[in-house]
Amino acid sequence: MPSSGRSAAPDLRGNAAHPVFARLYAPVRRILDRAGFAARRQRLLAELGGVVVEVGAGDGGNFAHYRAAVTQVVAVEPEPRLRAAAGSAGSRAPVPVVVVAGVAEHLPIVDARADAVVFTLVLCSVNQLDRAVDEAFRVLRPGGRLVLAEHVRAPGRGWARVQDVLDATIWPRISGGCHLGRDPRAALVRGGFEIVSEEPYRLPRRASPVSFHVSLTARKP
Ligand SMILES: C[S@@+](CC[C@H](N)C(=O)[O-])C[C@H]1O[C@@H](n2cnc3c(N)ncnc32)[C@H](O)[C@@H]1O
Repeated sequence: MPSSGRSAAPDLRGNAAHPVFARLYAPVRRILDRAGFAARRQRLLAELGGVVVEVGAGDGGNFAHYRAAVTQVVAVEPEPRLRAAAGSAGSRAPVPVVVVAGVAEHLPIVDARADAVVFTLVLCSVNQLDRAVDEAFRVLRPGGRLVLAEHVRAPGRGWARVQDVLDATIWPRISGGCHLGRDPRAALVRGGFEIVSEEPYRLPRRASPVSFHVSLTARKP
């Protein structure tokens, strides 16, 4: 199913190898999942069916949560070590999973092929947020769903300022290019999506620059 979208060669500049981050990510993800994110994954993905494009799949932490209504997951992952881990997770998944190289800004998927697009903890790390949203829009069929669970910009000015300072200094360098102060909801609206539902929450509950999250479903009109 995956095939060339706008070009046969995905542009991996700036997103390919993050060897230190890739080594650390799986144990960090397991801690986050035990702290409550696994339940968020499950709730977000339970409603999906048909062809799902999962962008920035990491080590495949979502795969176990897809239900039988999903006929195919195309998991796009630029980082080689994480992509290999996702391949192993995909072979154990309850639904068919194919893992491919690529980036959110240039998905190797034909137009209107997907019934759903999934982002979990990815839009913080893409190089071009609006471009990633445009690509999700392109690969979705009309009426298709985009679901995301992301850490986001804090609602109050105090924490948002802390996030901006960290984003301008050390945070992206130690976290595989992640940014704390992004607002993916605004990007979806700019990109033409209709917001269907959204749930803000803190994980962990205690406020910190990384604790502000949202789970959201949007629809391509
Ligand atoms: C924090 S991890 C999240 C992984 C997974 N989605 C999860 O929920 O556990 C961020 C992932 O986004 C990937 N990533 C970074 N930049 C990307 C881009 N431009 N396009 C697609 N994936 C990207 C990273 O390689 C990494 O796998």
